[in-house]
Amino acid sequence: MVVSTRILALSLFSSLVLATPLSVSNHYSRDLIVHETRDALPSGFSLTGPAPADTTLKLRIALAQKTPDAVVDALLSVSDPTSDKYGQHLSKNEAAQLAAPNPESVSAVNAWLSEHGLNATSITPAGDWLELHVNVSKANTLLGANFSVFHHGSTGQAAIRTLAYSIPASLKGHIDLVHPTTTFPEPVDSNLQLGKRAIHKPILPRTLSSNCANGTTPACLQELYNIPTTPASVPSNKLAVTGRFGNNAHYAFLQEFLKQYRPDMDPSTNFTVTLLDDGNNDQDQPSVSEGELDIQYTVGLATNVSVDYVMVGIKWQDGALEGYLDEVNYLLSLDNPPQVLTTSYGMPEDSLPFNLTDKLCKAYAQLGARGVSILYAAGDSGVGCEQNSTSFVPTFPSNCPYAPTYQADAVTGYLTQLSSSTQANSTLGRFNATGRGFPDVSAKADSFLVWENGTASLFGTSAASPTFASVIALLNDRLAQKGQSPLGFLNPWLYSKAAGALNDITEGKSNIECNGDNVGFEAVKGWDPVTGLGTPDFNKLLGVLGL
Ligand SMILES: *[C@@H]1O[C@H](CO)[C@@H](O)[C@H](O)[C@H]1NC(C)=O
Ligand SMILES: *[C@@H]1O[C@H](CO)[C@@H](O)[C@H](O)[C@H]1NC(C)=O
Ligand SMILES: *[C@@H]1O[C@H](CO)[C@@H](O)[C@H](O)[C@H]1NC(C)=O
Ligand SMILES: *[C@@H]1O[C@H](CO)[C@@H](O)[C@H](O)[C@H]1NC(C)=O
Ligand SMILES: *[C@@H]1O[C@H](CO)[C@@H](O)[C@H](O)[C@H]1NC(C)=O
Ligand SMILES: *[C@@H]1O[C@H](CO)[C@@H](O)[C@H](O)[C@H]1NC(C)=O
Ligand SMILES: *[C@@H]1O[C@H](CO)[C@@H](O)[C@H](O)[C@H]1NC(C)=O
Ligand SMILES: *[C@@H]1O[C@H](CO)[C@@H](O)[C@H](O)[C@H]1NC(C)=O
Ligand SMILES: *[C@@H]1O[C@H](CO)[C@@H](O)[C@H](O)[C@H]1NC(C)=O
Ligand SMILES: *[C@@H]1O[C@H](CO)[C@@H](O)[C@H](O)[C@H]1NC(C)=O
Ligand SMILES: *[C@@H]1O[C@H](CO)[C@@H](O)[C@H](O)[C@H]1NC(C)=O
Repeated sequence: MVVSTRILALSLFSSLVLATPLSVSNHYSRDLIVHETRDALPSGFSLTGPAPADTTLKLRIALAQKTPDAVVDALLSVSDPTSDKYGQHLSKNEAAQLAAPNPESVSAVNAWLSEHGLNATSITPAGDWLELHVNVSKANTLLGANFSVFHHGSTGQAAIRTLAYSIPASLKGHIDLVHPTTTFPEPVDSNLQLGKRAIHKPILPRTLSSNCANGTTPACLQELYNIPTTPASVPSNKLAVTGRFGNNAHYAFLQEFLKQYRPDMDPSTNFTVTLLDDGNNDQDQPSVSEGELDIQYTVGLATNVSVDYVMVGIKWQDGALEGYLDEVNYLLSLDNPPQVLTTSYGMPEDSLPFNLTDKLCKAYAQLGARGVSILYAAGDSGVGCEQNSTSFVPTFPSNCPYAPTYQADAVTGYLTQLSSSTQANSTLGRFNATGRGFPDVSAKADSFLVWENGTASLFGTSAASPTFASVIALLNDRLAQKGQSPLGFLNPWLYSKAAGALNDITEGKSNIECNGDNVGFEAVKGWDPVTGLGTPDFNKLLGVLGL
């Protein structure tokens, strides 16, 4: 499910204090030049007034990396099966060095802050992100900004943002961006519920066996994809699951799920929880489905792989991106990060600023260069479509590119088939054919039976992502048993050696209506933007790995 925008409505700022007028007396103000602006407020937001001068802002400063391409180059070199560096993943320090800013950038920015009596802390191993706690009045002076309170009408949420900010001219090229400034949070739409319960009739293609007769269960997926029930055995092999927006996972529900659907497993098989940004692991909080689904279909499929649930606290004022940033920076800070990360959240790309998402994609690239396989749900809305628009809406972070030369042939092959199909006239022109194609892979995603104080039947790419991630974690265990490196960034391998070991899905339409037109892509032979390269086959993938 693509949901990023579900955040609790809070009403802060009940009493507004007048802001101190913008100071223009500081000597840095004279050579401040505008760095980022936004022309209009995002839909639904309106200006309330100046932000209280004494409110503390937590600003993040992204420093320019010394060699911006170094991380992605290293990523491709250790992830391309034809490279002689394949599998030679980087250590924490090696990756951090490649992502590091110039020492001159660090000292120039620190000198500027120190002139203002401020002190920032590095929040990444590479030192490319700084965190600064500063009040509104000081932030306005520092950045020539006008931080104000903006309310989102239908949700009642408020956020402190500025429509423009500046940096000293001498720091151009040293600072990539300051956040949160001009990027607004994604508003919460109350009907966009994460993990919404959807009891509906199982779709049962005739080829499915009786194991799938009553809904999708671990036994069903094990049979469909040849996923072994044999427990993994290498203690260092780990899988992380992202939790967001208060979607906690209940220990007791997992235990009941295992009793019912994995009677061969020890029902006390557990998961650990890591809390970031005041994430909440209150087991008395009612279930909101997504967390239970993601945990039950990793612990329940990646048999005996250690699963850590990384719960990122609700920080709606900071926007959903802030949570992704904190999570990836946390994983980068670990000496031995989990080798697989699955995330069932995402958001429409068109609402996000390129420069910030680019920084996030590069952080994922760094994690990939260290040998972590990162899986993101691509979203349940197919090609997506915004009201009154004829363009498709890709989802972030599933669209992170990492220079997708690995998929060039696959995408060209698809576009050739598309151009001669009956779909062509209604579909071409609604997407940028030079961009990254996704999804890369797929898995069954309907009628997943989940225990949440009763049985729920859930669907969506939220279900497919943990399933595929579990397959990768079990493959990593087999590799580790032989002393080999984990699979790491999967795509170059998937699009070359592994493509033949996936079940190519060749029929079916995404069937998405875009303002009344049926313009969805179709599944075809080979890669397509509905099912990617196909669904996993554990045994065939093992064969490709020579195991
Ligand atoms: C700053 O924004 C406030 C609204 O928040 C507005 O009233 C004020 O005129 C702005 N100040 C400047 C200098 O633009
Ligand atoms: C803001 O912080 C500065 C120190 O950085 C302090 O001197 C000033 O009094 C604070 N202003 C308000 C309104 O809190
Ligand atoms: C800046 O912060 C760091 C870490 O919080 C601290 O060690 C250092 O003393 C501070 N420096 C100044 C000048 O406040
Ligand atoms: C499906 O449900 C029926 C009726 O309750 C039961 O007999 C059968 O064993 C179930 N099949 C599976 C695979 O759970
Ligand atoms: C599970 O893995 C651990 C190592 O992480 C191993 O010691 C244990 O024997 C495994 N459990 C089973 C049931 O195989
Ligand atoms: C799982 O771990 C949690 C937290 O440590 C604990 O409260 C719970 O009892 C454990 N569940 C089982 C079945 O051991
Ligand atoms: C489970 O159901 C019981 C009984 O209805 C209820 O008291 C409890 O709050 C529920 N627990 C969760 C986590 O939803
Ligand atoms: C944002 O990224 C683009 C493309 O890399 C670059 O040209 C532009 O200068 C960046 N903007 C800012 C404010 O850094
Ligand atoms: C779409 O167009 C209709 C009719 O012109 C308008 O009422 C509606 O507000 C528009 N929706 C958006 C999201 O722009
Ligand atoms: C696309 O539309 C044109 C003009 O209506 C038509 O000639 C052509 O056959 C259509 N192509 C396909 C693939 O349907
Ligand atoms: C399509 O994407 C490419 C980058 O992949 C970009 O350079 C180009 O401007 C985009 N075209 C349109 C029409 O947006």
